[in-house]
Amino acid sequence: MSIWKILDTVKDFVVYDADTEFYAKVFPDSVDRKDLMRLRRMRLEDVPTIFAIEGKNYNFPWSEQIFKDCLNAANYSCWVCLELDTIVGYSIVSMAVGEAHIMNICVDPDIQKQGVGAKLLENMIERARKKAEKIFLEVRPSNEAAVSLYKRRGFNEIGVRKGYYPAVDGYREDAVMLALDLTSFIEDDTVESA
Ligand SMILES: CC(C)(COP(=O)(O)OP(=O)(O)OC[C@H]1O[C@@H](n2cnc3c(N)ncnc32)[C@H](O)[C@@H]1OP(=O)(O)O)[C@@H](O)C(=O)NCCC(=O)NCCS
Repeated sequence: MSIWKILDTVKDFVVYDADTEFYAKVFPDSVDRKDLMRLRRMRLEDVPTIFAIEGKNYNFPWSEQIFKDCLNAANYSCWVCLELDTIVGYSIVSMAVGEAHIMNICVDPDIQKQGVGAKLLENMIERARKKAEKIFLEVRPSNEAAVSLYKRRGFNEIGVRKGYYPAVDGYREDAVMLALDLTSFIEDDTVESA
């Protein structure tokens, strides 16, 4: 029996995250990266790391102060995704009465296309549906990865904001507005608890 099979057998008896982290450190190839990812609320001390990821992803990144302002605002829900102790992505959603608005979702380019964006989006939707009937966002139509992420999760186009985004050489780019109706989820909950 190979060392990996023995390890798999041992892992079948392991239920605690701490053990998963132990195996990741000692035998990195034995643990699925997704099993090491977890979400927690964003903290002030996360801002420099988040700002670095932001700079790697956008031509027009938010400043550190914008992230701090989001953290201080009572109606903003700010989360990070960690792989072990490393921040690999973050999301920010504003909650108003009846509606939520995705302000930012961003994943470190080194770990994109491995499910972090979908995990962050699902968390925002789950939190928003406790307070809101709809969740909205704007996205550049040229941002194929993001448009695909949202549409795959059921968001629909509801309009266009002309010249919404700054673009290179002083041009402006339109934003596509997307929305997801959250009420059907709320109805499902009502049926379950009835
Ligand atoms: C958009 C973004 C958050 C997606 O995060 P991610 O961790 O790479 O996404 P996931 O691995 O969870 O992929 C989920 C879905 O997104 C879509 N997607 C992700 N990357 C994609 C790419 N490069 N091309 C096309 N679709 C892509 C796919 O539909 C994918 O589903 P699939 O795996 O079944 O094909 C990430 O690309 C990013 O941080 N981009 C820069 C910041 C940004 O543009 N944010 C959005 C602002 S509106």
